[in-house]
Amino acid sequence: MCGIVGMAGGQNVTPILMEGLRRLEYRGYDSAGLAVINGGRLQRLRRMGKVQALQEALNGNPLSGASGVAHTRWATHGKPSEINAHPHTSGGIAVVHNGIIENHEALREQLEADGYRFASETDTEVIVHRINYHLARAGDLRLAVSRTIGELEGGYASMVVLSDAQPDALIAARIGTPVVVGLGGDGNLVASDVAALLPVTSRLQFLEEGDVAVVGRDSVRIFDAGGREVQRPVRVSEQTADSVDLGRHRHYMEKEIHEQPAALTRALANRIEDGAIADSAFGPEARSILAQTAGVHIVACGTSYHAGLVARYQLEEVARLPCAVDLASEYRYRSPVVPENTLFVAISQSGETVDTLAALRAAKELGYLATLAICNVAESSLTREADLTFLTRAGIEIGVASTKAFTTQLAALLMLTIVLARQRGIGADTERQIVNHLAELPGLVEQSLLLDGAIAELAHEFADKHHALFLGRGALNPVAMEGALKLKEISYIHAEAYAAGELKHGPLALVDDDMPVVAVAPNNELLAKLRSNLQEVRARGGRLFVFADPAVEFGDDDGVRILRMPAHVQPIQEPLLYTVPLQLLAYHVAVLRGTDLDQPRNLAKTVTVE
Ligand code: F6R
Repeated sequence: MCGIVGMAGGQNVTPILMEGLRRLEYRGYDSAGLAVINGGRLQRLRRMGKVQALQEALNGNPLSGASGVAHTRWATHGKPSEINAHPHTSGGIAVVHNGIIENHEALREQLEADGYRFASETDTEVIVHRINYHLARAGDLRLAVSRTIGELEGGYASMVVLSDAQPDALIAARIGTPVVVGLGGDGNLVASDVAALLPVTSRLQFLEEGDVAVVGRDSVRIFDAGGREVQRPVRVSEQTADSVDLGRHRHYMEKEIHEQPAALTRALANRIEDGAIADSAFGPEARSILAQTAGVHIVACGTSYHAGLVARYQLEEVARLPCAVDLASEYRYRSPVVPENTLFVAISQSGETVDTLAALRAAKELGYLATLAICNVAESSLTREADLTFLTRAGIEIGVASTKAFTTQLAALLMLTIVLARQRGIGADTERQIVNHLAELPGLVEQSLLLDGAIAELAHEFADKHHALFLGRGALNPVAMEGALKLKEISYIHAEAYAAGELKHGPLALVDDDMPVVAVAPNNELLAKLRSNLQEVRARGGRLFVFADPAVEFGDDDGVRILRMPAHVQPIQEPLLYTVPLQLLAYHVAVLRGTDLDQPRNLAKTVTVE
C-alpha cells in the first residue's frame, strides 16, 4: 500500500518527487523518504511520520540530483520508524518497494552468512542487498534486478531501483502491484499510481506483470518476464491533476462530504437519455451482455462492499434478479458455484484493492457471463482488467474514510439496476419514474447537508463514549453498517451495526445508558417493526438517536433524540440520503475527539496487500 515515485530527469528532480509523494500520501503515511544521485553519489533522507516531516527535513538539509526515488510507507514488516523507512540502501544502491516478500527470512539468513549487515527490520532490505550481491557478479543493474526478482516469493513486490553504478536511469519492476511509467518532456518518471505523475505528464505506459523497465532521461526500455524487449502502448490519461486544495474546509473528509451533490451530478451526466438510462453507460458491449444477465454476483471490500449490500435489495426488488454479495477477501478463497449467465460485478473506489483484483481474476476463470468494474479511478488495474467498466466520476478522494465514492457507487448500482430491470420488462413509465428519482438525488443530498450544524451539536453526546450501536432494516441495514464503519475508523469509537430485528438475538445485552444507539428510520413499510425494536432499546435504558423521516412521530422522551431529515424521500432514494447524516456524525465526533481523521491510525486509502 506504499506509494512510490521516481524520476530520471534533466534537472533537479527533488521538487517533483516531493509533489508526487504528497499525491501518494493517502497510500500510507507512517514514514517517508527519498534518495538522489548527487555528483555521482547516492544521498538519502528519511523521516518518520508524514511527508511534511520529510519536507521540513529537506528545508534544513536540501538534497538535489538529476535522478531519484521516493517513497511513502504503510508498515507491514517492521514498525513505523526512520530506520524502517524507504529507500533502503546497500552500497550505492537504493530501493523503494511496495508489497511483501514472503521468503524474506530465508534470504536474510543467506545474506547475513555472506557478510551483509541489516540496518532495518523490513522485508524490503533483502531486495537491495540481493541486488548488490548480483550486481557485483553480473555487472549490469537490470540483470541484477531480474535475478533478484527471480528469488523473491510473495507475488507483491513492485519496486524502483536507483544506483550510482548507472546514475542516469532507474530500474522499475512490476510484480503484483501496479507500476506506471510517465513520459515527460524533460526526463521520464515512474510511480505506483498515476496520481503522482499527472502534475508532470499524462502520457503513460503501464507495465505488465513481470515487466522490468529501464527508465532513463531520454528513453524508456521495457523487458517482459522472459527478458525480451517489448513495446507497451502509450496511453493519454483521462484523469486530470485534480486540485488537492482544501479550500474553506478543515479536512478532506469534510470537503468530500460536501462535494457529494456535484459528484452525483457528474456520475449521472450523459447517462440519462429521455427518461431512460443509456446501456452505453456501461461500455460499448454492455447491451448484449446485460440482455443475457440472469443473476448478479457483487464482490468488494469495506465501504464498497456496503454499496453492494444495498444494491442487492434493489436488484431483487426492482429488477427481480437473484443477487449474491461477497467480501472479496473471502470470495477469493471460496469455491463459488456460478449459475448460468451471472454477471460478476467488482466495486472499488481505487480499482487497486488487492483482494478485489484477485477476486476479479479468479472470477474470470469461473464461467461468469462477463465482468463489470464499478470504479472511481480511470486506468486503474480493475478497469483495465474487467470486460465492462462504469466510472463513478466522484473525483479524487483523499480522505481515507470513503464518502463521495460510496454515494456515487450507490448511484451507479441504481443505474445498473434500472438497465437490468428494463431487460426484464419493467416498462418505460416505471423506468421513467425511477430515473426521475435518481435525477433528484444531487438536490436531495444538498438538503441533507443542511443538517450539518445540528449534527455537529449532536456529536457532543458521542465524543466521550467507547461504544455505539447502529440499527437499520432492509436496505438501510447496510447503511447502518456504513455509519458504524465511518465512526469506528475515524473516531476510534468501537461501533457495530445490526439489522434491527437481530437485536434481541444477542446485542441487546450490551445496551445500557452508556451505549448510544443510532437508528435510521425512513417512513417505509418496515417502520412499525423498527419502532418495536427501538422500544426494546428504550425499555433497557438505552439512549436512542434516530434519523427519521419528517412525517414520522416518535414519542420523544429524555432518552430519545430525533433528527428529522429535511425531506420525505422515495424508498429507492433512502439508502443514499440516510448515509449523509451518518457521515456527518462520524466526522463531527472525530473532530471533537481530535483524531487525525483524514489519515486515521493504522489505515491507508488503497489496500494493496492482502
Ligand atoms: C472505509 C474505506 C474502506 C474501503 C476499502 C475498499 O471508509 O474507505 O473500507 O472502502 O478499503 O477500497 P476500494 O473501494 O478502493 O476497493
